[in-house]
Amino acid sequence: MRLFCYASALATLWFTNSVNGQIFDKHVVVCQQEDAALAGREVLRAGGNAIDAAIATALGLAVTHPAAGNLGGGGFLVVYLADRKLVKTIDFREAAPLASTERMYLDDKGKILPKHRAGARAAGVPGTVAGLALAHKEFGKLPWGMVVAPAQKLAREGFVISSTLASSLNQQLGMGKEVGVDEDLGPDGEKLGDFASSVAVFKKPGGEVWNKGDRLVQPDLANTLDRIAAEGADGFYKGRTATLIADYMTKEGGLVTLEDLASYRAEIKSPLHGTFRNHDIYGAAPPSSGGVVILQALNILERFDLKADGPHSPVTLHRVTEAMRRAFHTRAASIGDPDFVQIPVERLISKPYAEFLARTIAPAFATPSVMLTSSTVEGAEPNHTTHLSTIDQEGSAVALTYTLEEGYGSKAVVAGAGFLLNNEMGDFNLTPGLTDATGRIGFEANRIVPRKRMLSSQSPTIVMKGGRVKLVTGSPGGRTIPNTTLWVILNVIEFELQPRASVDAARTHHQWFPDILKLEGKKWEVATVERLRQMGHVVKVGGIQGDAHSIVVDEQGKRHGVADQRRKTSTAAGD
Ligand code: DON
Repeated sequence: MRLFCYASALATLWFTNSVNGQIFDKHVVVCQQEDAALAGREVLRAGGNAIDAAIATALGLAVTHPAAGNLGGGGFLVVYLADRKLVKTIDFREAAPLASTERMYLDDKGKILPKHRAGARAAGVPGTVAGLALAHKEFGKLPWGMVVAPAQKLAREGFVISSTLASSLNQQLGMGKEVGVDEDLGPDGEKLGDFASSVAVFKKPGGEVWNKGDRLVQPDLANTLDRIAAEGADGFYKGRTATLIADYMTKEGGLVTLEDLASYRAEIKSPLHGTFRNHDIYGAAPPSSGGVVILQALNILERFDLKADGPHSPVTLHRVTEAMRRAFHTRAASIGDPDFVQIPVERLISKPYAEFLARTIAPAFATPSVMLTSSTVEGAEPNHTTHLSTIDQEGSAVALTYTLEEGYGSKAVVAGAGFLLNNEMGDFNLTPGLTDATGRIGFEANRIVPRKRMLSSQSPTIVMKGGRVKLVTGSPGGRTIPNTTLWVILNVIEFELQPRASVDAARTHHQWFPDILKLEGKKWEVATVERLRQMGHVVKVGGIQGDAHSIVVDEQGKRHGVADQRRKTSTAAGD
């Protein structure tokens, strides 16, 4: 009996304090990599708030998760400030360089140039450092230097790499056949090994293959972080770092100049707000499409009693698919950078508009996507971005998603500066006026214009009930992001699943075009798939969808840090 009590006390201790544990009383950080999560927890323990923790974690991921964590990319965050009872978002999406042009990735016959996704020319003006510095200036608590310090240490002293990162780096360097990490290569097979500056940073000293347990040390990145620690955003957008970026661009045919860097601004914006079953949903505004897609889909779905039929019943899957189809049609047709295109956001996320859309859903027949408009087709997106969630003792919370676009972005490290450039310019519509079945989109809303920010699917989201945070979530996954996030929200609110089950449950994806319903994983009942096919859905089963590192706050105020296990290395760290 005594042994039992001792074991159960130990188990409780492990559960509440371990980095792999789930339930915390005070604060928690959930993200893709353990050292980065510990960086966030370190600043929380030092008295920092949820914003400080999100910044420390994001900078930590820039060191330890190079496929998606970044200084050279961009993203969006949503923050709830408990003391001010205020929700704000920060848009730190990359922008088109001043010298960019609408047809810059096309040859004279209008064909997209090969390898346009790699190298300096694929990069937009990075937004991450400006976004994190702005978040700190407006909402942070600890001194900036304390928030940057853990990342400096990880870069300078190195960190122990996982088998996943070892495999990925080996593949990127063209060493050995690695299984299961193909998604890190660009569409034309581009890899880190194609760029001398990237090889210099990521090859193992001595040149052997990387193994689990090896240490990756990044001195150039540490020096860049030193400048950011000392000078804030100016340590990136001006001075030595900016010169290194501009020089690399000149040498490698990129377009980002000192002027582009000096004039880049992250922006504080009001969140998009909607309601679902008496909960308040806060998401990112355009140029992210995430907020619009999720709120429009929730508004449509609120008109049905999904719970009565269960989350994975054919009728629920049909309704969710039809809501996704309509919301993604809205996305393609209407959303871009609001500084450049007019977007009727209020109408798109209104209840009456959703009521109209819901009435167009046939109870037992799939709506062919071509019926929503003439033909427009979107291709699949690669699978690398990363999402983190934080909450502090006061109840302030941050949902932050940022990215280099593809795994390792452009694959090109800025020589001497130690960080990878994004290849986010590919998120613009590259073929003006040409929309076809091969995946090209030519709509006006998202064409390249200097300084314009490209359309995104990133969907950091905070859900509140009765003035308190209930759910902090978001995901990577290209165009699947809003749908992954939608499923987590539905699982928590509509189906009232437990936190772990809400994140673990298989997800689905439909993005209007291609007109395909994807069901994640293999564990679908044959009868369910059959019924969906009878309704007219083109169903594909398999694969994994997203990586939604989430926090759920229960009625007692306990923080459930739910690290999505789909990509293995994720961690919840808290107290
Ligand atoms: O902003 C976007 O929508 C894309 N650049 C995100 C890319 C992505 O999520 C890739 N991987 N997970």
